[in-house]
Amino acid sequence: MKILVVGGGGREHALVWKIAQSPLVEKIYCAPGNPGIAELAECVHIGADELDELCAFAKAEAVDLTVVGPEVPLTMGIVDMFQEAGLDIFGPNKAAAQIEGSKGFSKDLMARHQIPTAAYKSFTDHAAAVNYIREQGAPIVVKADGLAAGKGVIVAMSEEQAIAAVDDIMLDKVFGAAGASVVIEEFMDGEEASFFAFTDGRNILPLASSQDHKRVNDNDEGPNTGGMGAYSPAPVVTEKLHDIIVDSIVRPTVAGMAADGCPYVGILYVGLMIRDGQPRVVEYNARFGDPEAQPLLMRMKSDIVPVLQACARGELQQDSIDWYDKAAVCVVMASGGYPGAFEKGLPIAGLERAAMLDDLVVFHAGTKLKEGQIVNNGGRVLGVTGLGNSVREAIDKAYEGVAAIDWQDVHYRKDIGARALNR
Ligand code: AMP
Ligand code: GLY
Repeated sequence: MKILVVGGGGREHALVWKIAQSPLVEKIYCAPGNPGIAELAECVHIGADELDELCAFAKAEAVDLTVVGPEVPLTMGIVDMFQEAGLDIFGPNKAAAQIEGSKGFSKDLMARHQIPTAAYKSFTDHAAAVNYIREQGAPIVVKADGLAAGKGVIVAMSEEQAIAAVDDIMLDKVFGAAGASVVIEEFMDGEEASFFAFTDGRNILPLASSQDHKRVNDNDEGPNTGGMGAYSPAPVVTEKLHDIIVDSIVRPTVAGMAADGCPYVGILYVGLMIRDGQPRVVEYNARFGDPEAQPLLMRMKSDIVPVLQACARGELQQDSIDWYDKAAVCVVMASGGYPGAFEKGLPIAGLERAAMLDDLVVFHAGTKLKEGQIVNNGGRVLGVTGLGNSVREAIDKAYEGVAAIDWQDVHYRKDIGARALNR
């Protein structure tokens, strides 16, 4: 098979790494890819949001299956376009991708199908939104309706902070059109986890549990980021909780989307808040998590390609995935300054040394090749991912890799996995 992976971050490197192990695959393309991916796939100079060019490429090269990493092409309708062209593609269509693309859509879906989540109300009127905040009091959470690159959620500890957020989103339009409507919801306390399931629109295939680290600094301090590290499995998700998540959230979500005439195909990402053994949905995403994909795919023993293909074709029969009985931990090495401004083009040392370590893979995210040297080119630069017989061993392995790598102003958290150890 010829496979095209769309995207060029750490998640796509992990997908390419896993797909490359499949005996079914003879050729992998990645658009646009990155220097790490280039070691395993042919990188094509097409951006992940250049849908016409991607579709023309897949047709010209007779690609058998396209796998979409990021949300933007999904919400733009890449799946609809490929399907019209008769091409197999893994991911939700434009209508179903609203589950991530519109907070109002996902909240209404959960309300309609009794899926546990925070109480909420949607507003297009600024004064009504402010009144509601005054009525409800703080803490309270304000969300821009549309995609805002992970920055559209404000967890407000005071009414003033919440109203300032509504002003920013609705009056000053800091997120542009994504802020035409806001969702205001109840603050949920608890421990977060990420839960993923493959689905063909009807059948589901849940993955192992995982946990992200969203804040930029140790002890979950500082601003939110795309994710500074992740591990799998997540001990907070016990076997019992796994079943509750599948039965009370994943199945009703997939069945609800189908019943609403909007079947969801691809990988469903459920962001959870867990308290007293009860999960509630924080948000859905229409794609694999980044960095959660890195530890999850390193632990996955089953071939991923038949699963991706079966989902794309609406024929998912498989009901379980084999996992290595190991823990995996991914430590993200980021550019100093991220998630704010940072310098690009700084040479990265030590990649060859890290590559010699066993049970360790350095997934590339924001890297670039400049005059024969790999340099940083984004906020999150590398996802150093280690495997071990225990979380402790996997943490030590990942940080052994981190210690081998260096560049000017590099930043990473020193406490990835600590919460799993504390349990
Ligand atoms: P989201 O982009 O919806 O994942 O939100 C980003 C982060 O904001 C989440 O990972 C949570 O840490 C936090 N968050 C979002 N909604 C809530 C809520 N209702 N209660 C508490 N925290 C929330
Ligand atoms: N790790 C969070 C995300 O992929 O959205």
